[in-house]
Amino acid sequence: MSTNLTYYGHAAFMVTHNDTSLLFDPFLTGNTWNVAKPEDIKCQYIFVSHGHDDHYGDTAQIAKANKALVISTAEMAHKAEEDGCQVHAMHLGGKFDFPFGSLRLVPAFHGAGVAGGHAAGALVDFFGTKIYFAGDTALFSDMKLLDRFGQIDYAFLPIGDNFTMGPEDALIAANYINARVTIPIHYKTWPVIDADPNQFVKDLKDKYQLKGRVVEPGITIPL
Ligand code: NI
Ligand code: MN
Repeated sequence: MSTNLTYYGHAAFMVTHNDTSLLFDPFLTGNTWNVAKPEDIKCQYIFVSHGHDDHYGDTAQIAKANKALVISTAEMAHKAEEDGCQVHAMHLGGKFDFPFGSLRLVPAFHGAGVAGGHAAGALVDFFGTKIYFAGDTALFSDMKLLDRFGQIDYAFLPIGDNFTMGPEDALIAANYINARVTIPIHYKTWPVIDADPNQFVKDLKDKYQLKGRVVEPGITIPL
């Protein structure tokens, strides 16, 4: 009955409950963490936050091999559909009830990576576990509103800087979001995002008395 988390490095991770898996931003091929291959992934659902290669990544290959449903913004869903995937198009502010629970598409301040689109994050109720995946984003004060439907259990926040918020802003974001556990992502994949996740987790505790957890790429933990 438990839900497990597998982290693949960068912004790629999967949550699994019994036989149901939801994969996020599956950038595996070319991911310097190199902990998994697309052909090894088994899932029914894939959430894509935006169209940059380090997020859309291996979506089409994995989705087609698994007959998985790709969930994203309308523009990204259209791209995935052109790539031969089954899709569920949504947009910012919208929520839909899937068999695993609900997924609400929330704003992210970042490029869409596809014409006319918008980057997104996701607020997911996955079999009762509340997950916030920020995607790639800058800090924004409306993160304070994310817990308006109840406390978030796990917040996945980019900390790498340069392309997204760095550790200083991610600490403020974590404090706004106030999740039960904050998990840093999107770091060290390339030298330009060489942030230290252990320092980030220490600062969460020291500055805000918040719990953080560094999940090593390639491992699976129970949530
Ligand atoms: Ni991006
Ligand atoms: Mn990125």
